[in-house]
Amino acid sequence: MTPEKPAILATFLEIATEIALTAGAEILSYGGKFTIDTKSRSDDLVTAADKGSEKVILEMLTRYFPDHGILAEESGKLGNQESRYTWAIDPLDGTTNFAHNFPFYAVSIGLMIDGLPQVGVVYNPASGQLFRAAKGLGATCDRLPIQVSQTAELKKSLLVSGFAYDRRETPDNNYAEFCHLTHLTQGVRRTGSASLDLAFVAAGSFDGYWERGLSPWDIVAGIVILEEAGGVVSAYDRTPLVLSSGRILATNGAIHDSLSSALLTTPYLST
Ligand code: IPD
Ligand code: CA
Ligand code: CA
Repeated sequence: MTPEKPAILATFLEIATEIALTAGAEILSYGGKFTIDTKSRSDDLVTAADKGSEKVILEMLTRYFPDHGILAEESGKLGNQESRYTWAIDPLDGTTNFAHNFPFYAVSIGLMIDGLPQVGVVYNPASGQLFRAAKGLGATCDRLPIQVSQTAELKKSLLVSGFAYDRRETPDNNYAEFCHLTHLTQGVRRTGSASLDLAFVAAGSFDGYWERGLSPWDIVAGIVILEEAGGVVSAYDRTPLVLSSGRILATNGAIHDSLSSALLTTPYLST
């Protein structure tokens, strides 16, 4: 594995930014009027804006990088799957929020090189907030450097988490963990956009984030932004993160061990 040159990463970052801004404009162009369909379940929504945003992203990515691989939420695997470069795309992360006109959603564009997250852009077109990072080049929000918080105690922390669409069918639905951590901290938020959750840990608003049932397109971009802001990601048990596991523990670093231990000792009610 040859590390990518900073200038190359910077170029990837600029192109990913241009694409995210264009996709964000596409989302806003619906002006609150769009069709809504369902996917796996009645609450797993996909709107015309999700599809329109993904179309814009795929057109631009394949024009810039015809030899790269792509993993996109609405279209699956595309392009050259043998490539060292794979783009992980969530055209609209936070679709339920978008569909209800709650302005907390994002375009998430991440690049993995040899399977490792290296470039990330998370753009909320509703607020205009733009989070960006590339390996070794730092993380920014609206072009200003960002850093994780310094909160070192769980009881002083504010966390964020979420619930996957299979929450009604599995006992492994994160409800027990959410209650447990709500008692141990100053609060746990559920915002409905995994990519923005990671970005807000990176910016120091939240001290930690965990979730299960995620896909690479939800988290690849946010992981780069968080790591470049000084944060740490792993599996719940602090072993190296496996993207395909769908589980992530992401913190400011200072509460990583205590949040991991708390998650692993969650009391479960017998059913
Ligand atoms: C969802 C959001 C949400 C998370 C879900 C994701 P979508 O993505 O990131 O925060 O809890 O697990 O599926 O469906 O809005 O792209
Ligand atoms: Ca998503
Ligand atoms: Ca999505």
